Amino acid sequence: MNGMQFQDLVASSRTYRRFSDQRVGETVLSALVDAARLAPCGNNMQLLRFRVVGEKDECDAVFGHLRWAALYRDWDGPEPGERPHGYVVICLPSELADNPIRLIDVGIAAQTMALAACARGLGCCMIRSFDAGLAPELALPEGLVPALVLAVGGRGERVVLEGPDTEHGLSYWRDADGTHHVPKLALEDLLV
Ligand SMILES: Cc1cc2nc3c(=O)[nH]c(=O)nc-3n(C[C@H](O)[C@H](O)[C@H](O)COP(=O)(O)O)c2cc1C
Repeated sequence: MNGMQFQDLVASSRTYRRFSDQRVGETVLSALVDAARLAPCGNNMQLLRFRVVGEKDECDAVFGHLRWAALYRDWDGPEPGERPHGYVVICLPSELADNPIRLIDVGIAAQTMALAACARGLGCCMIRSFDAGLAPELALPEGLVPALVLAVGGRGERVVLEGPDTEHGLSYWRDADGTHHVPKLALEDLLV
């Protein structure tokens, strides 16, 4: 893969919140974790643990604890039929749940899995807004808590990148056709 192809991969690795009926098996979800396994982490401590959720009943249970697209105030998340077919829940030891280095680890692991999913033509949504019922729902091993949920599935919506406009600023927005628009600042706006 050359630099341009990598830039294209990153550009197409968008947040998807509506999914197709393509099944995502636990083998694929585990392959995403296998990529995250190789990601950098502070002091190479490797404290993250991962729960793969691929069974329909468990997916339905996890879904009930998630909050989707805070900026879409009149949308409660994907309807039945457009919900994710799998999740990877990134977990931390409870005493490190707010540790900045470990939360950086979580972000790096999440982006690594998102890119791995994108390379397979799948869509993802990182979800940090979940309720307190998620941890007991997952029946995690003692001392582990969920830090971030990665929802995974076939892409079921159109997502486009664009620059900020005067109407939407940096807020993502959905047009009348259902296309999800994601404004990103230009390179020259970021360089300091
Ligand atoms: C740390 C983090 C937490 C996020 N939490 C949520 C969430 O709880 N619910 C949600 O629908 N999207 C969530 N997102 C997705 C962001 O809204 C999304 O990344 C942003 O709108 C930019 O879109 P893009 O990923 O396509 O660049 C989260 C993203 C990140 C990086």
